[in-house]
Amino acid sequence: MDRVLVIGATGNIGRQVVSQLANTGVHVRAMTRKPDAAGLSPETEVMRGDLTFPDTLDGCLHGIDTVFLVWTAPAAAVVPALDRIVKRARRIVLLSAPIKTPHPLFQQSNPHRIMVEQIEQLIETSGVEWTFLRPGMFAANALGWWAPQIRVGDVVRWPYADVPTAPIHERDIAAVAVRALCENGHAGAEYVLTGPQSLTHAEQVSTIGRAIGRALRIEEITPGEWRRERLSIWPATLLDMLLDAWAAAAGHAAFVTSGVAEITGAPAHTFFDWATDHSGEFRA
Ligand SMILES: NC(=O)c1ccc[n+]([C@@H]2O[C@H](COP(=O)([O-])OP(=O)(O)OC[C@H]3O[C@@H](n4cnc5c(N)ncnc54)[C@H](OP(=O)(O)O)[C@@H]3O)[C@@H](O)[C@H]2O)c1
Repeated sequence: MDRVLVIGATGNIGRQVVSQLANTGVHVRAMTRKPDAAGLSPETEVMRGDLTFPDTLDGCLHGIDTVFLVWTAPAAAVVPALDRIVKRARRIVLLSAPIKTPHPLFQQSNPHRIMVEQIEQLIETSGVEWTFLRPGMFAANALGWWAPQIRVGDVVRWPYADVPTAPIHERDIAAVAVRALCENGHAGAEYVLTGPQSLTHAEQVSTIGRAIGRALRIEEITPGEWRRERLSIWPATLLDMLLDAWAAAAGHAAFVTSGVAEITGAPAHTFFDWATDHSGEFRA
């Protein structure tokens, strides 16, 4: 029986991957820095590991065939951690980004992109079997972006109201990941994955409103106002990365692929489906 290590198992995507792997018969080990707070099902083997402390990876990787890798750790940790992972794993499925897709939303230069390119290069040249998942904007971004404002009122202050993206449900990314982790035939594949519809930020907010039975709307603010208001909560590099991407994408329809349906055989969930699944998190 294959043994899969999920790195990033408590996050938006990894948690779904762990949950969907439970139906496949593979043995799943979930890595987290805080096992006591992981909140994963009792059947899941949970092990403490930290990408910034490479020694902690040895136990997590022991006896493992395949790794699902979500990387949100600092760039300085990339080389020592990847060195250990590629020595132990036979197959790696990496949660990456659409960095090769020629759409303006995905083509901005920033430190995060450089780090992703470095991770991919280390994996590609290591000799392990690999698959890169390249999802566009996560629907789940709406939780951090808009839920706090929606819980207390019907207006979301946001820039670039008319910029469209094609938000993808975390369940769809996980469904593709599970195929790549458990089936043969995905080696060397790079899957660009999106939700099924191009929707502006304003349309996404009103869709959440439909899902929770309220009339929500965006009050458009300038990029500068938004950056100033958010600086106390989010790092400046993240704010600039998003602003650059939205500015570049203005006036372009979102990039939409049929990757989810082609790989899983089931249509990608709509943003309304996603908002319905998460309606409780938007209610006061
Ligand atoms: N948001 C988007 O629109 C978007 C689009 C395309 C690609 N992506 C990519 O998706 C990834 C984020 O995925 P996500 O939203 O599922 O992540 P997330 O919800 O932010 O979760 C991060 C996960 O990484 C783990 N983690 C963080 N630091 C760690 C460390 N030092 N050692 C070990 N584990 C660590 C956390 O585990 P513990 O805290 O439990 O240790 C947690 O499980 C990023 O690589 C991003 O570039 C995002």
